[in-house]
Amino acid sequence: MATTETTAEPRNDNRIIIDPDTDPRALEAAYVDDPRMKCRDVNVYYADFHAIHNVDLDIAKNQVVAFIGPSGCGKSTFLRCLNRMNDIIDICRVTGKITLDTDDVYDPKIDVVSLRRRVGMVFQKPNPFPKSIYDNIAYGLRIHGMASTRHEVEETVEASLRRVGLWDEVKDRLDMSGTSLSGGQQQRLCIARAISVNPEVVLMDEPCSALDPIATGIIEELIRELTELYSIVVVTHSLQQAARISDRTAFFHLGKMIEVGHTEKIFTKPYHKLTEEYLTGRFG
Ligand SMILES: Nc1ncnc2c1ncn2[C@@H]1O[C@H](COP(=O)(O)OP(=O)(O)OP(=O)(O)O)[C@@H](O)[C@H]1O
Ligand SMILES: [Mg+2]
Repeated sequence: MATTETTAEPRNDNRIIIDPDTDPRALEAAYVDDPRMKCRDVNVYYADFHAIHNVDLDIAKNQVVAFIGPSGCGKSTFLRCLNRMNDIIDICRVTGKITLDTDDVYDPKIDVVSLRRRVGMVFQKPNPFPKSIYDNIAYGLRIHGMASTRHEVEETVEASLRRVGLWDEVKDRLDMSGTSLSGGQQQRLCIARAISVNPEVVLMDEPCSALDPIATGIIEELIRELTELYSIVVVTHSLQQAARISDRTAFFHLGKMIEVGHTEKIFTKPYHKLTEEYLTGRFG
């Protein structure tokens, strides 16, 4: 678990910083043993605009990796590469290689619907379907053929809602619309929906930014618990949140991944000058 200390120490050794370009030494922790996902030399373009430059990153099993960096640096763009959500943006082009286990995510033969079951996503604004709380989860189970009998569906709906700590709050009103829940409850419903189909990775793009501190605390605790079963990638603007919940942190700046490492190391002794400047509030 990471430290809550968010202030970078001044650099007092003789590290040579190649600034502002990336320094390979700040990126050594991009690779892990036995990763769930591997990204190699990933570049993303929106028409002529080069939004992501040459990113190599492994997504580890049973860990949270946080993406931080100033607005517009490419965090969401890179996150969306992991389950091909960028496919739905016409002008967007992704190059490089991304694998999930041994499968090439960008293989034209891969079934994108099943890829997105395996690499689920939770968005900034809770987006339950305009359906009942029950159907918000049951729908995905049916679409993906994850439960064959009504009894199996019921069991998985309950298990998923229990996993996100929502069952006791909603068990007597499962037929009410998902949109009738509070923001924090809706976000837990969306997480329940993502995990109900047994994903391997869950991507979360600023999952708490629309929530109050209490709902945020509940989601953060849940994210930590979910690492027991899944790999989690979280984009966050809150440095404190990254420090609290992530095992590794990747810092992006102007479309480049500048530094990645164990969260405690990044927050206490960042390697790259740009990381240090961002963490100490000098820009961003
Ligand atoms: N659909 C799009 N079409 C064209 N350019 C885009 C599109 N989406 C993002 N961009 C550009 O790509 C760059 C990275 O954007 P992205 O949304 O990934 O940043 P971000 O780090 O997630 O920012 P924020 O913290 O504000 O969410 C920005 O310059 C943005 O303007
Ligand atoms: Mg974003």
